Amino acid sequence: MRILSGVKATGRPHLGNYFGAIRQFIALQEQGEGYYFVADLHALDLVRDAEQMRELTLGVALDYLALGLDPEHCTLFVQSQVPEVSELMWILGSVCPMGQLQRAHGYKDAVAKGKEVDFGLFGYPILMAADILLYRSNVVPVGKDQKQHLELTRDLAVKFNMTYCKDFDPETGEGGALTLPEARIMEDVAVVPGTDGRKMSKSYDNTIQLFASDKQVKKSIMRVVTDSTPVEDPKDPETCNVFGLLKLFLAEDELAEVAAQYRSGGSGYGAFKTRLLEAFHAQFDEARVRREALAQDLDFVRDVLATGAQRARQVGAEVLADVHAACGLR
Ligand code: ADP
Ligand code: TRP
Repeated sequence: MRILSGVKATGRPHLGNYFGAIRQFIALQEQGEGYYFVADLHALDLVRDAEQMRELTLGVALDYLALGLDPEHCTLFVQSQVPEVSELMWILGSVCPMGQLQRAHGYKDAVAKGKEVDFGLFGYPILMAADILLYRSNVVPVGKDQKQHLELTRDLAVKFNMTYCKDFDPETGEGGALTLPEARIMEDVAVVPGTDGRKMSKSYDNTIQLFASDKQVKKSIMRVVTDSTPVEDPKDPETCNVFGLLKLFLAEDELAEVAAQYRSGGSGYGAFKTRLLEAFHAQFDEARVRREALAQDLDFVRDVLATGAQRARQVGAEVLADVHAACGLR
């Protein structure tokens, strides 16, 4: 079983990204042949600075390696290092009805907001379909918001196979040049609260970043908003943002103990924040140290990515050759 997923480089990862997405991705490497890539071509739409693009792309690779993606067990690469994907995008675009792209959420939302839309945003779903189909991926883990893209991917694969492959059987999906992927919609995880109690998100500037300096992490945790109940009074853990974050880290019995401390009074929020800080470091220090070491050894990281791209290109070239043969490009 080949599992594939792409990650857009959107900035430094925070607790919301980790518990909401990254953790699940990394766990999946155990379940099959994993292909993970940094979607730099998709990011061109937003990132318009060369230095920033390079930094973000390498940064995602560092993050994932530090957090436990194992390059011995899976293939980690950068999307643009497999140029075959851009060619497959064009070929798929040639069988893709405009109407389907016009109905895509990303495009529709941008138009509704009156944004100026470039072709990159409009064609985004075709590139994503090419990402998936180029490697004959069987399973694609994504969030709910990507479900529509997976449906388009299947539609395009069927359309291509129906058009060009006489042995293709749409009932079984067999006999085509392109393999039909299954979406694996990741379970809805609880929303991780930010330091101000709203959803943690970089757009709200309320994040606790996984790889910020010790000083910055402490500062972020200390600024978690709490009410002004005096130290000696009982407190309600369920309405407290600090407790909401502690839930991510502590085992059930530890959490029950902390909840009891809230209810009995006598402990201030400062003490609970310190507990959170300790729990953060206990969980992430290993990854933080590993990321520092990797950042000192960028040649190793570039090597991992080069090996990954080589492996991905091998598979991609085979699939593209079948596609060429099917539609008469060779
Ligand atoms: P941000 O809101 O900081 O811009 P993204 O939209 O880039 O984060 O999210 C990347 C991934 O992390 C998505 O899969 C998203 O579901 C998950 N995620 C982001 N914030 C949270 C959160 N507060 N709680 C749970 N999951 C989150
Ligand atoms: N569109 C995905 C997102 O925004 C990223 C992505 C690009 C992707 N290509 C993909 C995900 C292929 C899965 C498979 O999160």
